[in-house]
Formats: sequence, C-alpha cells, structure tokens
Amino acid sequence: MNKQLDVALSGPGGPYPMSMEVDPIRAFRNRKIPLAHGSGEIPAVGFGTLIPDAVAAKRAIKAALETGFRHLDCAELYRNEAVVGDAMREAFEAGTVQRAELFVTSKLWNNNHRPERVRPALVASLRRLQLDYLDCYLVHTPFAFKPGDELDPRDAQGQPIYDTGVTLIETWRAMERLVDEGLCRSIGLSDIGLEKLKEIVAAARIKPAVVEVECHPYLPEWELLEFCRQEGIVLLAFAPLGHGMKPRITDHPVIQAIAQRIHKSPSQVALAWAVERGGAFLTTSTSPGHIRENFEVSPLPEDAMREMRGGIATKVRFNAVIETGVPGFVPRVM
Ligand SMILES: NC(=O)c1ccc[n+]([C@@H]2O[C@H](COP(=O)([O-])OP(=O)(O)OC[C@H]3O[C@@H](n4cnc5c(N)ncnc54)[C@H](OP(=O)(O)O)[C@@H]3O)[C@@H](O)[C@H]2O)c1
Repeated sequence: MNKQLDVALSGPGGPYPMSMEVDPIRAFRNRKIPLAHGSGEIPAVGFGTLIPDAVAAKRAIKAALETGFRHLDCAELYRNEAVVGDAMREAFEAGTVQRAELFVTSKLWNNNHRPERVRPALVASLRRLQLDYLDCYLVHTPFAFKPGDELDPRDAQGQPIYDTGVTLIETWRAMERLVDEGLCRSIGLSDIGLEKLKEIVAAARIKPAVVEVECHPYLPEWELLEFCRQEGIVLLAFAPLGHGMKPRITDHPVIQAIAQRIHKSPSQVALAWAVERGGAFLTTSTSPGHIRENFEVSPLPEDAMREMRGGIATKVRFNAVIETGVPGFVPRVM
C-alpha cells in the first residue's frame, strides 16, 4: 500500500498537485505538497521544535521522527538548533530516517535582516543543525530589529529597537541568493499579513514557496489562503491547536461533535482541517501520546469541513508576533 501516485486534487484539498499513496489514511498523513517556487515537496504534517527545555526537546524530536513526522520547523530564535541537530544526527545514525527524507526549515531572526547578515545567519543555523542545506529558510517576521547579536534589543523604555535602515525586499533579495547558492532549496515568509505578502510576491525574482502564520479554526485566514492558492504558495499553519491556550479550540462543540462522529479526537479534527484546506501544519508536543495522536490524522468528510466553516464563530488570535515582531503568546480576543 506504499505505491506513490501523483494526482491533482481539487475541492477542499485545493488545486495543488499532491504526491499521494493509495491507502487514503496513510496518504493523508504522508501528504507532500510540491513547492511551486524552489525545489522539493513539503510534508503537510509537521513538527515544531519550539520546546525550551533541551532534554525534553531532544526526546520529543526523536519521538516525532520515530512516529513518522518528516518535517521539522526550527529557528535561530528558539535557541535550540544544536539540540535539534543532535536529535536529527542520532536519528540518522539509528536509521530512523535519512536526511533526504526529511524536510527541515529554519528562520532568519529580526536582528539579521541587513542583506550582509543573511548568509552568515543561515550558515550559522546550518552549523548548529549539523546540515549542509535547508529545505526551506523563512524570514521569521517582516520586522527588522537593530542589527547585531542581540535577539531582543530594547531601548531604555523597554521597547524593541527597530532597524529603519533596511527594507523587507532588500532582505528578500539576499534570501533569493541563498537559493541560487544551493544553501536552501526554497524560501518563504512568516508572521506576515496579506498586503505585505503581496508586495513581496510582486517584486520577487524567486517567489515565497511557504508562508508560515498562526492559523486554526478560530483564525482561518481564508483570504490569505485564497491568495496563497492562486500564487502556488503553501500556507503552513502554526498554532493549529491554538498553542493549547484558552478558549480551547478542542473544546468547541462543533469540533467535539465531529470528533465523536468520526471516532477521532478533537485535536485530530483541528489538525486534519489544516490539511484538508490544502495547507500544512506544525504542532508541538512533549507528550509521546500527543505526538502519536497528532501524526495519526485522517481525512475529514466534506460535511465536517462545511460545518467548521459555517458553525464556528469564535475569533481569536493567540500570538501577537504578527503585530510587532516580538514573539509572545498574548491571548487577545478580536
Ligand atoms: N512562525 C512563528 O512565529 C511561530 C510562532 C509559534 C510557533 N511556531 C512553530 O509552530 C510550532 C507549533 O507550536 P504551537 O504552540 O503553535 O503548536 P500547537 O500544536 O498549537 O500547541 C502546542 C500545545 O498544545 C498541546 N498539545 C499538542 N498536541 C496535543 C494534543 N493532541 N492534545 C492536547 N494538547 C496537545 C501541547 O502540550 P503537550 O506538550 O502537553 O502535548 C502544547 O502545549 C512551534 O514548535 C514552532 O515550530 C512558529
């Protein structure tokens, strides 16, 4: 049941050509979306490495790889790329997975937006991750901070110090050169709104392949998704479970009712929703049970997708990073 077929999906899965297996459940978990800009395919089911404790991070990443996750999301900002690198190396050595089967993303942090800082930042990430190329490199946020080694430069009033001496398109040009050099196979943006994304898409020589933003049933980002579909950009959802914060996505009665009907957990329904729309998701857990549960997603019936679109009125952005470039988990009901 492992045979690969290339099919073009329409309907709720979107217009992307998808590489699929014959068994529909395995095909769903292992779905890979070809990147229209740059090379490679991004696994729709991804595991985030934002786990502050090093021991827990290494254990969770190894468990995720053993479970079947083939897509890891990293960042300089997470200050643990070396730990991720150790976990990957041990998994390669144990034969759990080979480098070529894994899709690894990292991100350029705000203090490195000046064009001359972009390549050294990527090379430093590669060194920490013990890799010789990335599958995708993202501009972590469109906000440039004061150039230098401080990740979180602040003024005397405690406000972030922004850098007005560089524009996002100048940073993007330096990102494009990384693809030319083969240091990363694709590039993208994160924590960006639709208007700014349109500007980059219009000016880019190599268009963004991936846009990573907060996205879940309480923040569905339909307009952004539509634009991404038109432009062949993959919408990669972070916080697909709302960072596990209240109001809990998994407590919503529509999601709970669907979960009961299709014999899956509410978390699996929320995660499957991201894939059914033609996108990808990143979830994070330190619990072996949750890691397994999050990988074991299955297709959602069309009526469930309709119910979620029409029946969930709750609107919440859990993470304010898109507003200031400052990472945080500030709950804010819109
Ligand atoms: N681009 C950006 O600015 C940005 C921002 C934030 C995050 N990210 C990326 O996105 C990744 C995903 O993190 P996230 O917080 O956004 O993920 P999330 O899946 O929305 O939330 C993770 C939280 O949910 C809990 N959880 C996970 N699976 C569960 C399950 N099956 N049942 C119940 N609870 C569950 C986890 O706790 P347990 O450990 O107890 O399972 C954890 O507290 C990060 O690691 C990072 O790579 C990117």
